[in-house]
Parts: sequence; structure tokens; C-alpha cells
Amino acid sequence: MKVFINKRIPEVGINMLQEAGLQIVFPESENLTYEEWLKYCQNTDVILNVGGDFKYDKVFFDSCPTIKAIALYSVGFDHVDVKEANVRNIPIGNTPDVLSRATSDVAFLLMQSVARRASYNFQKVKEGNWGAFDPLHALGQELYGKTLGVFGLGRIGFQMAEKCKKAFDMEIIYNNRHRNEEAERELDATYVTFDELIRNSDILSVHANYTPEHKDLFNQSVFEKMNSDAIFINTARGGFHQEQDLYHALTEGKIWGAGLDVTNPEPMSADNPILELSNVCVLPHIGSATVEARNGMARLAAGNLIAFSKGEVMPNCVNPDVYSHHSS
Ligand code: DGY
Repeated sequence: MKVFINKRIPEVGINMLQEAGLQIVFPESENLTYEEWLKYCQNTDVILNVGGDFKYDKVFFDSCPTIKAIALYSVGFDHVDVKEANVRNIPIGNTPDVLSRATSDVAFLLMQSVARRASYNFQKVKEGNWGAFDPLHALGQELYGKTLGVFGLGRIGFQMAEKCKKAFDMEIIYNNRHRNEEAERELDATYVTFDELIRNSDILSVHANYTPEHKDLFNQSVFEKMNSDAIFINTARGGFHQEQDLYHALTEGKIWGAGLDVTNPEPMSADNPILELSNVCVLPHIGSATVEARNGMARLAAGNLIAFSKGEVMPNCVNPDVYSHHSS
């Protein structure tokens, strides 16, 4: 079985695929145009996809009728039209759990970085502008006992909430498609409506799976309802927040600050005015960028394809119902 991998992944995943006898195809360059990428996809059986540059939509599936399975090197699958994959009985694998710790670490890092104005202060030092001790300048805020609002309390949201509870004895409120009984039991988390979430969070951290209905969910009307001391954190997908509205909320004092590991589009342009603000920290989508998480992702992605190659169900599949149509 031939597997196309569009970008190098950690060796552990490559070794697993090779030992299982899969034939790996890497592209000549890792900066493919859409047409070049499509050509590789048209000449393979299965794909191990790294990144969200190209969409797996109807056009893709119609153009690549030989594709039998796709293993994503990500937990998010917003770049895949799962309905179209279902129509063709194509299983889509992803990499949950192994990156929850690393990604929630970045949410926690952004929260503290914004609360203590770390980016702004670091910039001052780099500019030779350390300055004299000033009792009133660039004061941050402490997080002890504050309220963390989690939008999307799944695996990553849980770990962020747990860190906030343990480090700062924060109160946890959340809004989610379903109640999270484990979080209610273990973290004393309280389920609230979306409106209550945005009005009562001191820190509002987004951790939901992104779907098109979420586009610009955090917009002007939401920022206006938030507490003016609140910090908005997004480590999920840039599509969740309306960037212009966020910019205005930050410059007009509707909210206190923002920490973003995701933007829309990515990469964020270097001349984006948000980067000029002193109450912002932006990171280049590094949530899962640790050796441990990336190795774990490589193992899960390879494991999904190996299982598929043996006619078995992918251990981590976002659309397992397709298997009821497979005659293996
Ligand atoms: C994920 O796994 O979804 C991360 O955002 C990296 O793409």
C-alpha cells in the first residue's frame, strides 16, 4: 500500500510504517502548490496529512477517486469535509490525547504571558528600553481565585482547567455541547450557558472542535458583553474569533488582553496591527510543538494507517461509521 506524506514527521512514525511494509512517498518539495499536491494524492492509496494548507473537500475527493484512507497528523479535522468522506466510505484518522497536555500548556502559558504583559516587557528589553523601576507602569494582574471560562470542555479544555485549578485555585465554568461530569466531579466545574460564560469569565479560553457554524463566534457583540478585565485565549482555531472585532475590543478596553496560538489566516501577516498591541501575545500555532506530543502524533497517525492496511478499524477515527460499509 502506497502512502503519501506531504511533510516529514518524526522518525518513529516513518519507522513504524516502513516496518509494516507500507511504501512511503515524500514530495520533492514540502512547499507544494495545490495542483502539485493533488497530483501526489492522485497517485497514492492512502495519505498521511500534515497541516491544514489544503482542504479535503468535494473537489478533492472527486479528483482523487483512488484514495482509500486519510490519517491526519492533527487532532483537528476542520480541513476535512467528513460528510464527503462518509459518502465514499473513507476513514479519517486523527491524533487525540497525545497533544492535550502540550496544547493546554500553551493556553496556560498565554494566559500568564498576557496577565503579566510578558511579550510587551520582553520587547522593551530587546529595544534597550528596560527603564527605571516604576510603581505604576505596565502592571499585570494576578490570577488567584479568578474564574476560568472554558468554551469546549473536552480533553484539552479539561487539562487547561485542571492546571488553572491547581496553580491558581481558579473557579471553573464551562460551556460545551454536552455536560462533562468528570470535570464537574473532579474540578468542581459548573456548566453555564454561552451568555453566562462570556459575562462571567475572567479568563475565557477556547478549546472546542472548530466547525463552520463557529465562524466568528467571538465577535463584537461577545467582546462587548465580556468583563473589561477579561483575557481571551484561543489555542483552538483562528476561525473562532473575528479578528477586527478582537482588535477593536483590545484597543477600546472592552477586554483586557488576548493570547492567540491560532489566527485566521495562518500565518498572521507581520504587519498585522494586532502585533503592535501591548496587551497581546501571539504564537505561531505551537500548541502541539513538543518532542513528546509530536512523537505521539507520529505514532497515532502511523498506527491508524497500519491498522487500515491490515483491514482493521483505525484506532483513532473521526468517522468510524464508515466501517459498517466496509467488507473486510
Ligand atoms: C491539531 O492537532 O489540530 C493542532 O492544531 C495542530 O494542527
